[in-house]
Amino acid sequence: MFARKAAQFFKNGSKFNGKGNLYFAAAATTVAGSGLGLYYMNKNAAKADMFAEGLHTPNFPFQHASTFGTFDHASIRRGYQVFREVCAACHNTEFVRWRDLIDVAFTEDEVKAMAAEFEYEAGPDDAGEMFMRPGTPADPLPKVYANEQAARAMNNGAYPPDLSLITKARHNGANYVFSLLTGYYDAPEGVEIREGLHFNPYFPGGAIAMARSLYDGLVEYEDGTPATTSQMAKDVVTFLNWASEPELDDRKRRGTQVLIIFSILTAISIYLKRNRFISLKTRKIVHNPPSNWTKKQ
Ligand code: HEC
Repeated sequence: MFARKAAQFFKNGSKFNGKGNLYFAAAATTVAGSGLGLYYMNKNAAKADMFAEGLHTPNFPFQHASTFGTFDHASIRRGYQVFREVCAACHNTEFVRWRDLIDVAFTEDEVKAMAAEFEYEAGPDDAGEMFMRPGTPADPLPKVYANEQAARAMNNGAYPPDLSLITKARHNGANYVFSLLTGYYDAPEGVEIREGLHFNPYFPGGAIAMARSLYDGLVEYEDGTPATTSQMAKDVVTFLNWASEPELDDRKRRGTQVLIIFSILTAISIYLKRNRFISLKTRKIVHNPPSNWTKKQ
């Protein structure tokens, strides 16, 4: 009915009679009112099921989160250190290869040395035996667990997800992981947390199987940055965000180039269009009838 009235309104314009106008105004107010209502309902998202969904995370000013911002590579380097010393004890990163880190946070020689510290299965050799060889930049980062069952067995049945794509796999990616890592509190009065779980309001359900893993001074940064909990969380999240979106720097650089080039091309095409059309647009067609035109012959 609304659509019909609206169509009629636009067709008839001001010829609309008084009653129709009233209907239309009422319908328009209802639609606008419900729209506003929905907007405010979602804006002030303090709902009863907030606990089930997890607390909404604030937006943190990550350098790479701004429109033209690129990764803070010193932070990726520190983040890798936190990841290696803390998270890598429990989490796989199946889709990151050593060589991906070259020229991102480490030099080629550093990456070769880092990969060689780990052993990978290779073979079979001439005797049909598998053997271990040092890692190379072409290998993925070492696996903690062979499969999901092994992972669950080692974590009381909880499954620590692979972190290679985690910032893409969670709503509000980097902000969520940062909030999660820094969001361990004592459970509020009346909230029961089962044995082996930990209270964290950002985790859907409020009880997570991962214990708090970052504490002030846990790692020692080689560049002297004070290793506070939030600093380590920021660095490891930057590292994980890079692992999920290694193309981000390139994408933004290309995007900026494209914007600049297309703006110039648009300006040129507007100029050319006006230039070509000017004779057509300013043409004046004059008709000079003969002076005896109206006279009947
Ligand atoms: C002692 C083992 C352990 C360590 C160390 C650890 N985690 Fe976890 N992590 C887990 C487990 C177990 C889960 C699954 C929790 C669950 O499902 O309740 C998990 C879950 C997660 C999740 C997913 C949460 C979700 O929304 O599903 C993220 C992200 C995460 N960990 C990041 C990290 C980061 C970053 C570090 C390093 C600073 C780290 N973890 C260190 C065991 C660990």
